[in-house]
Amino acid sequence: MSESAAQTESASELRCIGCGQTALPDRFRCEHCRDLLEIIYPGWEDRGPGGLSSVALKRLWRDRRSSLDPADQSGVWRFREILPEIARPQIITIREGNTPVYELPHCAKSAGVDRLYAKHQGMNPTGSFKDTGMTVAASFARQAGYKWVACASTGNTSASMAAYAARGGLHSLVLIPDGKISWSKLSQSLDYGAITCQLKTDFDGCVRVLNEVVQRMPVYLLNSVNPYRVEGQKTSAFELLEQFGWEPPDHIIVPGGNLANSSAIGKAVREMKQLGFISRLPKISVIQAEGANPLVRTIRENGGEQLIAVHADTMATAIRIGNPASWKKALRVIRESGGTVEQVSEIEIAAAKAEIGAEGVGCEPASAVTLAGLKKLVMQGFVKPNDSVVLVLTGHVLKDSEYTLKFHRGDLFAETAFEKQSDVLKAQQRLPITLEPSVEAVIELLQSAEK
Ligand code: F0G
Repeated sequence: MSESAAQTESASELRCIGCGQTALPDRFRCEHCRDLLEIIYPGWEDRGPGGLSSVALKRLWRDRRSSLDPADQSGVWRFREILPEIARPQIITIREGNTPVYELPHCAKSAGVDRLYAKHQGMNPTGSFKDTGMTVAASFARQAGYKWVACASTGNTSASMAAYAARGGLHSLVLIPDGKISWSKLSQSLDYGAITCQLKTDFDGCVRVLNEVVQRMPVYLLNSVNPYRVEGQKTSAFELLEQFGWEPPDHIIVPGGNLANSSAIGKAVREMKQLGFISRLPKISVIQAEGANPLVRTIRENGGEQLIAVHADTMATAIRIGNPASWKKALRVIRESGGTVEQVSEIEIAAAKAEIGAEGVGCEPASAVTLAGLKKLVMQGFVKPNDSVVLVLTGHVLKDSEYTLKFHRGDLFAETAFEKQSDVLKAQQRLPITLEPSVEAVIELLQSAEK
């Protein structure tokens, strides 16, 4: 089958995750029961994505990596048979995806597992996993004729949205919590030209305001309730499995904030199993910060019956979210894959981030919850020493250099409730050293470092 014929066949529909009714393509919630929507592909049932078998798709997706076509060079659009159909000229791509998998031998040892890998989504064009979903949702917005897009954000969605809007000739509006996101993320949305508003509230407050705004104005919402974003984020798991030769790892560990990424990765592995790409599901576990743990509480305290929203507080500002929109989707993923949830302390996050950094990889604090969580899961016996584990690192180390600097200077926890406990981090701290500009001084330092 020719490629153009293949592309026309992944027709999609929006379906409610609660009552199963279908919805119009630019909606976010079901008109009947207000639950979230997800994208389904009715044609797959008898013909497979793009009318192709899993064997043919695996080869096609790999071959596209050597193509000069911008859509093929994107690590999202090279998987276009499993995405909603977007006309080629409408695709906005900054060559997202195609992110590396790194082995982490030292972290493996300290966590107590033989094989540990990081899928580094921070290696995307704007430095976070958000780009993989944004390319799809922003392209859909342009195709649907919207002139404005908007999001509430803890900083990475806004950076990503601003970039894709600029590349696609769309205007963008960003609502962020005043003083609660990292400077680098704020600087990105300014640089890419978004109208950036700092609201005197938290992320959950920004979401509430924005939900009203988009109902009154012709502005397309690019928060992660947007089902097209979830579809794009799905490709990171297809790519991961491709990088593993389609042999699933035993565990995938994901940070949890608004809970869309875990939902997307779960949807991907579910689809891969249904389509015959893999024969078993990796267990997908979600790790939250103790101070922003609504999913952990929801599962532990009421068995997942009803969301327990919390007032969130953590220095891992990306996941400072108390009322996660996609909690039901994430819950389904955890249950269906046999994964679990865990929470980690501020000190555990800081220690884990420094360990990932010391492997020459680095990530932002929110991503480091994965390693901190893994350590707990190994101690509990949920992850076995000979299991293979993938940590999803969601953001680049330069996303929050202020955190890193404060950590190494030893003042990250100054005047906080964690000050006393932070002594355990001393061995990992590397102070910047100021020296006289003399050869002797440098040599002396080197000699003392060798001892
Ligand atoms: N890691 C990073 C670096 C993030 O920026 C986020 C979310 C998450 C993890 C959590 O992912 O929400 O899908 O569970 N950041 C959003 C933002 C909320 O606005 O940038 P999730």
